[in-house]
Amino acid sequence: MAADNVSVSGHPLVQHKLALLRSELTEPKKFRELVREIAQLLFYEATQDLALAPLTVQTPLGAAAGHEVAERVGLIPILRAGLGMADAIIEILPTVHVWHLGLYRDHETLQPVTYYNKLPNQPAIDLCLIVDPMLATGGSAVAAVDILKAWGAKRIKFLGLIAAPEGVQALAEAHPDVAIHLAAVDDHLNERGYIVPGLGDAGDRQFGTG
Ligand code: PRP
Ligand code: URA
Repeated sequence: MAADNVSVSGHPLVQHKLALLRSELTEPKKFRELVREIAQLLFYEATQDLALAPLTVQTPLGAAAGHEVAERVGLIPILRAGLGMADAIIEILPTVHVWHLGLYRDHETLQPVTYYNKLPNQPAIDLCLIVDPMLATGGSAVAAVDILKAWGAKRIKFLGLIAAPEGVQALAEAHPDVAIHLAAVDDHLNERGYIVPGLGDAGDRQFGTG
């Protein structure tokens, strides 16, 4: 595994919430809440290198030197499971541009199928952040990065909750320049391409469709 570009959060809050998220007893409402909270914590960790520009604001007592985020950030949720993570990130950085990509895994071949692409014509953006809770075979993430690069994206990060080693390896090998931020790397993929122990189907568990 190309470990250089892979960060797995060791933050106690992330790990505490991740265990709750995995539990089969966690209902969709609580599951969505946890996806949201973990996504915010991972986003905080993944954006430590965002460039700032200086600015001055007036407080009631005088001028204060401050900063604002100087980079244009594009957020790319992979439908449908990435939606909950995207909502969480928009709350923290409301200036993000959100471009949805629809990809699903064919159940037989496990190959990603693209069915929706809301990217604008011009990639006038500094950083693209793909959000998808699960990195299983890596097929969907690799396809999403392929699409973004073909479109003209230069700096791309992937933010996920749980990965299989196979998925991390596939993404890191196909796109070694893409930083990967995760809450956990699990044991293996089962014969149906599910992460073990994982959490099951992230889309179904968020939207109650299991
Ligand atoms: C899930 C998940 C990823 C993909 C990961 O989506 O949200 O997009 O599988 O698997 P991969 O790494 O093997 O490509 P799914 O295809 O279940 O679609 P959904 O979110 O619409 O349920
Ligand atoms: N997609 C999911 O939602 N869960 C997995 O374990 C693998 C792919």
